[in-house]
Amino acid sequence: MRSVVLSNGLSLPALGLGTWQVTDREQMRGLVKAAYDAGYRLFDTAAAYGNEIALGRAIALSGIPREDICLSDKVWNTNRGFDAVQSACRRSLKKLKTDYLDVYLIHWPASPKLHADWEDLNAQTWRGMEALYREGLVRAIGVCNFTPRHLQALRRTAQILPMIDQIEFHPGMPQAQTAAYCAQNGIALEASSPLGNGQILQNETLLSLAAQTGRTPAQVALRWALQKNAVVLPKTTNPARLKENMDLFDFTLSDAQMRLLDELPFCGGLAIDPDEVTEFG
Ligand code: A2P
Repeated sequence: MRSVVLSNGLSLPALGLGTWQVTDREQMRGLVKAAYDAGYRLFDTAAAYGNEIALGRAIALSGIPREDICLSDKVWNTNRGFDAVQSACRRSLKKLKTDYLDVYLIHWPASPKLHADWEDLNAQTWRGMEALYREGLVRAIGVCNFTPRHLQALRRTAQILPMIDQIEFHPGMPQAQTAAYCAQNGIALEASSPLGNGQILQNETLLSLAAQTGRTPAQVALRWALQKNAVVLPKTTNPARLKENMDLFDFTLSDAQMRLLDELPFCGGLAIDPDEVTEFG
């Protein structure tokens, strides 16, 4: 499996399993075992997904050695601030039955639209993230859904720069400014909802590139994100698709094919505006 190396030297698999919307314990158990057997070594969750206990249990019951996998988690919006983020992380560690996370991320920025003190709020939460990192409870720290505006503001007070920005990233939603900012500042991009929550797969350009390459539309979309150096986190509960979504490392999209996908207009996905997200989501 190809790796992406973070600014602190930590290597992450370039492909991991997204677990949003998987909450049933038995389903999680089967999924984690099937994913591990298929070669997945990065599992991405969030406190807000409500499945940390199910994921921790599934890893333990599958007998997966902790050091064999990377676990990534996110702090929810109700736990902003220096103390709250540290308590939230400790609660998540308990639920996941582990004593460290490989990756810990702020799920959404506090936004200027909803918080008069958004810069300070993000700065204090980040200070808590830095403390967790220094303590060794988390091996890498980062953010999700931060745009250059949020990242630039954070830089003013951060002692450690975010190592990751996880954003919705797929053909039709290339978030070019954020991707460019991350590339220029040594921040690894992670692609959440890399299939646009499954909504982009009927797009004609994707279908035509799938026919040209002998791959599926999902594989073409995931390969596009990989070639943009993103860590891709597709979610599926279907064992055949788990394998399909991993089978990306023996073909390449040409520059012309990449450009076609770069230029695709929005064709499905969540497209949530980070400046509109509240405590409730
Ligand atoms: P399912 O879990 O039934 O496979 P995203 O990763 O962008 O959030 O997309 C997830 C959605 O895409 C889920 O509805 C998932 O459904 C579907 N999906 C995942 N992989 C594939 C695939 N290879 N082909 C078609 N649909 C897929």
